[in-house]
Amino acid sequence: MLEEARERTLLLIAPLSEQDLHLQHDPLMSPVVWDLGHIAHFEELWLTRNLDGPVEFVEMPGLYNPFENPRRVRGALALPSANECRAEMDEIRARVLERLRSADLEDGGDLLRDGYVYAMVAQHEYQHDETILQTLQLKAGAPYRAPRRVRPPAASGALPNDGEMVRFPGGRVTIGTDDRTQAYDNERPRHTIALAPFWIDVHPVTNGAFLGFMEAGGYETRAWWSDAGWQWLQDARVQAPKYWHREGTDWSTRTMDLVERVDPAKPVCHVCYYEAEAFARWAGKRLPSEIEWEAAAAWDPVAARARIYPWGDEPATSELANLDQLSFGTARVGAYPRNVSPIGCHGMIGDVWEWTSSDFTGYPGFASYPYREYSEVFFGDEYKVLRGGSWATRPGAIRNTFRNWDYPIRRQIFSGFRCARSEP
Ligand code: AVJ
Ligand code: FE
Repeated sequence: MLEEARERTLLLIAPLSEQDLHLQHDPLMSPVVWDLGHIAHFEELWLTRNLDGPVEFVEMPGLYNPFENPRRVRGALALPSANECRAEMDEIRARVLERLRSADLEDGGDLLRDGYVYAMVAQHEYQHDETILQTLQLKAGAPYRAPRRVRPPAASGALPNDGEMVRFPGGRVTIGTDDRTQAYDNERPRHTIALAPFWIDVHPVTNGAFLGFMEAGGYETRAWWSDAGWQWLQDARVQAPKYWHREGTDWSTRTMDLVERVDPAKPVCHVCYYEAEAFARWAGKRLPSEIEWEAAAAWDPVAARARIYPWGDEPATSELANLDQLSFGTARVGAYPRNVSPIGCHGMIGDVWEWTSSDFTGYPGFASYPYREYSEVFFGDEYKVLRGGSWATRPGAIRNTFRNWDYPIRRQIFSGFRCARSEP
């Protein structure tokens, strides 16, 4: 698992020059070489030092500690050359694999049981791969030469019925998980919630539907925006999703080195929370809470049980959903016919992260594990929860219970949304 994770990281960075590895392409993002060193040192901390001594609940000391060195300052750090960094990654990996030979994955304590800490470190690398892809999409100058290896299946026939909704019957549902082999602390504990019936979009909001909002003057109409959203819009002065460009009367969009006409049948991507919120209000809808989102993705009202993925418990692959990076872009809605939840929601996993109306907080009975700096220090009302993963998410880093979070103004992430509505 660790070797496969590394293979992918190296595939993604293979096209990059020394300069592209070291430049801070945007104050929001790290130089790519920082992500690489951070991946390696996080692994060193958890899979060598913390297996033997008392666990230190910090990500790591020094250069690669994300709290000591926030993203905006990372361009000024004395980072190693690409070769030095690669050598460090290899050296750490060799020690990790050596230590693994004597790891007791049954009775070696909570971190080691069922290989939990190895899964955690692999997921950390998967997550930083997606972060690196955000950086590469942002970078100015020559576009990143994306190693496109996967072509999403063609969507069957007709354009999606934009805005079509399906009803969730309500009732008592279980949310979250008690899993201790893969899940993060913020996904636990599993708990029961009584939900009122609600309606939710069958598909994520498409470019075509979002163009409808734009053409109706969505970006100029105060009434659709919350106070915070309108304030953001006054500062940001945008009129379209990030990476869209107007060409006469048409819009085009760029994903890495591919420029194409905006495809009305693909999910809208690179919108912030406030844009999602404004669209929903214009459409006479609202954003789902993360609980509603998870119920719509996971809960089987007939079997009265939650699925790990919309299609069941079979692990995610790039055949089941538009995941795992190598398609380098969104796919038309409906292109993955098995990617459908028990109540009939399509595309909840893959393509775009979906904004929810929920603040990122701990579930009732939350206990930080194994370190506060993954989740707990971010709890509060500053961040909104996103669900479902994107085309840039590795399959091992997504499931129905997975909770991502970011500031509501962020658009460099691979983010879209779907809408909900309460029952009248
Ligand atoms: C879960 C994507 C918000 O990038 O800040 C990486 C993942 N945590 N290293 C982030 C993470 C520690 C995290 N997100
Ligand atoms: Fe990290």
